[in-house]
Amino acid sequence: MNANAQTRPSAAPARPAFGTVLVDQMSVANFRDGRWSDAEIKPTGPIEIHPAAHVLHYASTCFEGFKAYRRADGGVHVFRMDKHIERMRQSARQLVLPEPDTAQLAQMVIDVIDRCRDQVPDAPGALYLRPLLFGTLANIGAASIPASEACLIVLASPVWDYFSGGMKPLRIYVEDQANRTAAHLGMVKTGGNYAAAMGPTLAARKAYNVDQVLFCPDGSVQETGAANFLLIRDKHIVTRSLDSTFLHGVTRDSLLTMARDMGFKVEERVFDVAEMFDWVKNGEAALSGTAAVLAGIGTLVHRNGEHKVGTGEIGPITQKLRAALVAIQNGQAEDRYGWTRKV
Ligand SMILES: Cc1ncc(COP(=O)(O)O)c(C=O)c1O
Repeated sequence: MNANAQTRPSAAPARPAFGTVLVDQMSVANFRDGRWSDAEIKPTGPIEIHPAAHVLHYASTCFEGFKAYRRADGGVHVFRMDKHIERMRQSARQLVLPEPDTAQLAQMVIDVIDRCRDQVPDAPGALYLRPLLFGTLANIGAASIPASEACLIVLASPVWDYFSGGMKPLRIYVEDQANRTAAHLGMVKTGGNYAAAMGPTLAARKAYNVDQVLFCPDGSVQETGAANFLLIRDKHIVTRSLDSTFLHGVTRDSLLTMARDMGFKVEERVFDVAEMFDWVKNGEAALSGTAAVLAGIGTLVHRNGEHKVGTGEIGPITQKLRAALVAIQNGQAEDRYGWTRKV
């Protein structure tokens, strides 16, 4: 199958791969002379970009990813859009890119949803929203000059159940030497971080037949290429404390907040590979993120051998926490946190 995204005007064929189908309209704004232009709705398709554009040389780009859900009554609700916009502004600041205006970006998202309301899939599908910011300043001598011109685009993609083949316990390779990315940029959602993780991830897939790589530079557990990592046992969760080395997941924050309210002891702290291997002898381990919510890990693969996580199946507490968050996202449980917004 062609891995390029296609636009699609109406109802989807059965379950295309995540991100390969886009709705046919997008919202675009440009930053020039110190201000953002009004946003415009345009057909989703190729854009013109100068070959000297800052992003093409100096990787000045960041993005976000979050979802809007269709509920049983037909209403469409976005999940924690404000938190994602805040994170995008933080990414832009770290990359010295013009910061998107919070209200304008929220309106661009809502405008795109409005144009494709009929294409928001029913649960367990959702509309995945992808704001994208990149430096357009045409200057190939700008390695240490920030992009004073930039483009902001909001794309949307109908996505179907991430676990359409049934939920399977993940096999994860534990990389205890290499870094996922530069330590000060781990918390920034920038393309370069994904490019940096790509090589080690593909190599581990080939060598060990794993789904993802858990990066643990110098033995300190961080995260995978696209999800945060949690250890779970009884009413106890351990996950890395927030620092600049990894992405501060909105799903992670949501799960920890809910777990605390459910009476869990939640420890956010640094921990190492040895402690993780010990924990999983009779505990659970899972990955959190927008795409999969909370995905159970069955096996941790290390260069010195394999470690089964609990029974090797998805743990019962992982499933319970996942179901509790999905219920809020889909409106089946009360949203006492104000995380969902009808649009
Ligand atoms: C590197 C990385 N870590 C963690 C996450 C999970 O973040 P969130 O829960 O905000 O989707 C993502 C997904 O966006 C990611 O790309």
